Amino acid sequence: MPDDRIIAGVRQGEDAWDRALRPQRLADYIGQEKVKERLAVFAQAAVARQDALDHVLLYGPPGLGKTTLAHIIANELGVGIRFTSGPAIERPGDLAAILTNLEDRQVLFIDEIHRLNRTVEEVMYPAMEDFALDLVLGKGPAARSLRLDLPRFTLVGATTRAGLLTSPLRDRFGVILHLDFYPPEELEQIVERSARVLGVTLEPGVAREVARRSRGTPRVANRLLKRLRDYAEVRADGVLTRRVVEEGLALLEVDPLGLDAVDRRVLEALATRYGGGPVGLETLAAAVGEEPTTLEDVVEPYLLQVGLLERTPRGRQLTAAGFQAVGREPRWTQGRFGWTGKEGED
Ligand SMILES: Nc1ncnc2c1ncn2[C@@H]1O[C@H](COP(=O)(O)OP(=O)(O)OP(=O)(O)O)[C@@H](O)[C@H]1O
Ligand SMILES: [Mg+2]
Repeated sequence: MPDDRIIAGVRQGEDAWDRALRPQRLADYIGQEKVKERLAVFAQAAVARQDALDHVLLYGPPGLGKTTLAHIIANELGVGIRFTSGPAIERPGDLAAILTNLEDRQVLFIDEIHRLNRTVEEVMYPAMEDFALDLVLGKGPAARSLRLDLPRFTLVGATTRAGLLTSPLRDRFGVILHLDFYPPEELEQIVERSARVLGVTLEPGVAREVARRSRGTPRVANRLLKRLRDYAEVRADGVLTRRVVEEGLALLEVDPLGLDAVDRRVLEALATRYGGGPVGLETLAAAVGEEPTTLEDVVEPYLLQVGLLERTPRGRQLTAAGFQAVGREPRWTQGRFGWTGKEGED
């Protein structure tokens, strides 16, 4: 019983930090310059015209700031935001209830929008295009259709991959923005900003080191920083020194390249079981005990980005750097890097 309260309290505490760490305006949002510039122009134009901003699709790997941007869009427009997600809208009626309750020009954020079911999606088309809801009353030959006007609104959809959306849905977004992994310089600024919010003192060079180990992802950077703060409080009077970072990251099993345990399992499996590949996604997923979609949406994008992995028509293949990342020397055989498993033989 007290445990529940403590757990709830801890969770509440974490939520409060997460909210505090989330930038509220475009000006506080670090990096993704092209995305910001476009949003700034479109939002300003919409505000000047007193119109709703066109629907926005945000896509990119997890933790890069899609939800954060949705909040920011609403703040820049000076309107409220309603939150839901693709799987939460089960029936057309659920969507109708959400849409009819929106206020004029409000933002409706749908996370995991690729998971909307087909019947709900069909209700979405006229809502997005004409701000209208087509209702069918009755059944069979007596059925009548009725068109209901909706308030103007801005749909902000988020997905890990735009390719998961049906094309009729994708085509109805006026603004499609891709979020990419953050380069170390930008991530470093995010770490510095978060440290200020959390009240953590960083020794010089520490922000860069945490940034380098964060898989190009702000969520990972913030998570590492929060855990390192714990470590610093216990071991170093609250100052995040280089030594605390080294020890803390070792404890968290984050390696010098910033790869986590799943990343390493994938690279190891490719190197040792499949001689570097190529191997199909399904086979690789089974070998490391993950869902193929997790590999494709969460693990693979970063490994591709940093050049440890390659996608070929015949499957996933390790690069020379990929072999080195798991401590293997690649051998150039038959036109590709491979590992025979027998050192010193060709
Ligand atoms: N550009 C940024 N500047 C500063 N902080 C950022 C930025 N982008 C993201 N963050 C931080 O990273 C965290 C994760 O971002 P967010 O929740 O928006 O990611 P997401 O793309 O919605 O992820 P998911 O796909 O898992 O829903 C946020 O809490 C926020 O604090
Ligand atoms: Mg999100």
